[in-house]
Amino acid sequence: MIGVFDSGIGGLTVLRWVRQRLPQAPLLYVADQRWSPYGAKPSWLLQQRCDAIADWLIHQGATLLVVACNTATAHCVEALRKRLTVVVVGVEPGIKPAALGSRTGTIGILATENTLASSRYQDLAARFNPNTRILNQPCPHLADAIERGPDNPDIDRLLHEYVPGLVEAGVDRLVLGCTHYPLVRERIQALIGSGIRLIDTGEAIAAEVGRRYQSIPGETASTRLLTTGDAQRLRKLIQAYPSLNAAFSEADCAQAPAALLDGPM
Ligand code: DGL
Repeated sequence: MIGVFDSGIGGLTVLRWVRQRLPQAPLLYVADQRWSPYGAKPSWLLQQRCDAIADWLIHQGATLLVVACNTATAHCVEALRKRLTVVVVGVEPGIKPAALGSRTGTIGILATENTLASSRYQDLAARFNPNTRILNQPCPHLADAIERGPDNPDIDRLLHEYVPGLVEAGVDRLVLGCTHYPLVRERIQALIGSGIRLIDTGEAIAAEVGRRYQSIPGETASTRLLTTGDAQRLRKLIQAYPSLNAAFSEADCAQAPAALLDGPM
């Protein structure tokens, strides 16, 4: 079984690619909506949540974990890999494909404050200096606004705040450095115009999962989406975002068990 988690619905933008890549694999997803967003939470809290969810997924039979969250990967993936024996696949902003494809040499990164402030991200970005000019745009509240549904007017308000400056600065690649942002990809593309390419690493992550997952003979396809928040709300969100509605069904959604709800407030 493959265990996948994120602070909320963002990781589903990775999970849909994983399912396409491995249609027979059993998939168990945890949306940690009770503790979302992760974008500005202290590192110790993120580590506690990642540890609790990872341990629980392994207990359920996961033999590979996907940390489908840039923020959680940036702060917690190393500690998870040190402690656990299963394969842990993380996600990170696609600086490499953006830098390699850029003609202007200027790329923009949209991500949470926590991702951009992490030493893991800064080390990654440093590898592309000085050849590529990387413009980091923290996006406070954007993942949270996306969690409130596509009709939430804050989404467009925040995008108008964060995106146009990067276009004016001459980026020709814009990295979606948070797994929530592909859910509003069309709106971002409409803001930047067709001359700037959006970079989303969901498909590449799924390819890595495909290379590293050892399937167990006799296993059959299943998708279970659990939330530490409200299952009814998760169902509504899946219905409301067309790309999620096309990939997942309301019947896949359920409440996460009590064991996953406890944590520091
Ligand atoms: N989807 C997450 C990420 O990729 C987390 C966003 C949040 O919870 O703030 O960074």
